[in-house]
Amino acid sequence: MKLGFKLEGVRKIYSVGRSLVPALRGLDLEIATGEFLAIMGPSGSGKSTLLALLGGLDRPSAGRICWGDQDLTGFSEDHLARWRSERVGFLFQTFNLISPLSAAENVELPLLLRGVPRRIRRERARQLLRRVGLAERAEHKPTELSGGEQQRVALARALANDPPIILADEPTGNLDSQVGAQVLALLQELHGEGRTVVLVTHDPAAAGYGERAVRLKDGRVEAGN
Ligand SMILES: Nc1ncnc2c1ncn2[C@@H]1O[C@H](COP(=O)(O)OP(=O)(O)O)[C@@H](O)[C@H]1O
Ligand SMILES: [Mg+2]
Repeated sequence: MKLGFKLEGVRKIYSVGRSLVPALRGLDLEIATGEFLAIMGPSGSGKSTLLALLGGLDRPSAGRICWGDQDLTGFSEDHLARWRSERVGFLFQTFNLISPLSAAENVELPLLLRGVPRRIRRERARQLLRRVGLAERAEHKPTELSGGEQQRVALARALANDPPIILADEPTGNLDSQVGAQVLALLQELHGEGRTVVLVTHDPAAAGYGERAVRLKDGRVEAGN
């Protein structure tokens, strides 16, 4: 199996006022390229922090995070931002769509930020919305969509740059189970295309969509995985 992520001794300490909050405490983890990994664990165990570090949204306080032969911890801010925009698509529990923008405009946004010409953006957004079953909703604003539809728009947006890595932080946490299952089926489809998918979830049924599950406890991977 080709090595995707390799994390060694990863620590993350947040400072809040005058106190230090350890979120990750020496975490070791390997994720193969193309793997579908579920991450479980109690609230506060460091799941969201881990996902943010995997996606280069934040940096560890100590330790190493490699993707293939690239050590992300050695990247400059600009390099990390470029790496992230080319390789990572994110999904969040609260969808995080931009409310004044239509579904299509939300999907186009990552392309706009990369300077992709308007006609190509439009066509790509249309394709992606069709792929998630929302071709008919392209002109709708997020408030005019159900939760499940909003998450599917967010998934289309996450795919705009055709990233090899999809990171999803409790993407079904605000959805009922039937609607959540549609989103999980889409994640499974993306995994089937060879993408690396990391899914944080509280729900054992959702975790069952992954090929493997690890459990975090107190900022480390719990033994026995
Ligand atoms: N931005 C932040 N500033 C300060 N503390 C944080 C921040 N984000 C998370 N934490 C703390 O780090 C720990 C892990 O949080 P988090 O990664 O969000 O866990 P989980 O996603 O498993 O609930 C918690 O104690 C949390 O309060
Ligand atoms: Mg969290």
